[in-house]
Amino acid sequence: MMDIAAIVESLKAQPGALLPMLHAIQDQLGHVPAAAVPLIATALNRSEAEIHGAIGAYHHFRREPGGGTTLRICRGEACQARGADAVANHARDRLGCDFHQTTADGTITLEPVFCLGLCASGPAVLVDEAGLHAGVTPAGLDALIHAARGQT
Ligand code: FES
Repeated sequence: MMDIAAIVESLKAQPGALLPMLHAIQDQLGHVPAAAVPLIATALNRSEAEIHGAIGAYHHFRREPGGGTTLRICRGEACQARGADAVANHARDRLGCDFHQTTADGTITLEPVFCLGLCASGPAVLVDEAGLHAGVTPAGLDALIHAARGQT
């Protein structure tokens, strides 16, 4: 695994290096740790505030390690029309965190997604990369959360 300094060094000469650097760091580490900010700032001759601003401007970037499981709830219009708002609100309540955040126990990260190709049978939910579920109700979501936490 490349460390942060090596990533910064390898990309700093690129025009518009900031976003590629942030992507590369998150790809390697799963998040962009605070320790990366001064390294990036120095390499790009920018202020640390600018780097923090860029990280904050893109929901894609995490400042903390993500949860073990990523739960993506479809926020597309077709799913909303089929009750996805209730599922999303239930998820926030149950997990105690909002979208783009991770539960306090670090097990689940909640993310929105905009269409999973199951529009006719929403609300749709994707667990990690392959666990696609259609017609998810709040109770169904509880079952997915339990499964993700290894509970029965
Ligand atoms: S809008 Fe949710 S799957 Fe298409």
